[in-house]
Amino acid sequence: MVRAVCPGSFDPVTYGHLDVIERSAALFDTVIVAVGSNIAKNALFTPAERVEMLTEVCAAWSTVTVTQFSGLLVDFCRTEGAEVISKGLRSGDVEFEVAMAQMNRQLTGVDTVLLPTGVQWSFVSSSLVREVAGLGGDIDAFLPPPVAELTRRRIQERLSPS
Ligand code: PNS
Repeated sequence: MVRAVCPGSFDPVTYGHLDVIERSAALFDTVIVAVGSNIAKNALFTPAERVEMLTEVCAAWSTVTVTQFSGLLVDFCRTEGAEVISKGLRSGDVEFEVAMAQMNRQLTGVDTVLLPTGVQWSFVSSSLVREVAGLGGDIDAFLPPPVAELTRRRIQERLSPS
């Protein structure tokens, strides 16, 4: 029984993330999608909102659960009894992702499986989607419909608070 953690900021969750979660669910017995807050990033959604969106769009996968975590990812993995971290890998992120995987393994021995991003999503990131949406571009190709709608609404609220 192998339990994997799919960590990320998911701000917001994209089709690229869902591709990695679905492939992780095919590889491992159970998958915990773990919403972390990357302190270097200016978040659009709260962690609780991201958990809610992910729970909705992952509902079809019975072995996948969604939760949020804080602190070190390796500590969360240990608490949850997860042996593997499963993440998507875009070609531009190789050095950083490998360094994080090595650091996490050094810390507690937890190993990381890096799944090359599906080619159709290789250019998609939450931060680019936020930028496109903020400048009025069409984001429907990159996000599940309810997430795209909430993203547009949140950006609109940010642009014209009242
Ligand atoms: O989607 P992101 O922004 O690439 O996700 C980053 C995340 C949340 C997975 C990463 O920042 C993380 O693991 N944060 C937890 C803190 C931690 O363990 N830091 C040491 C990493 S080696």
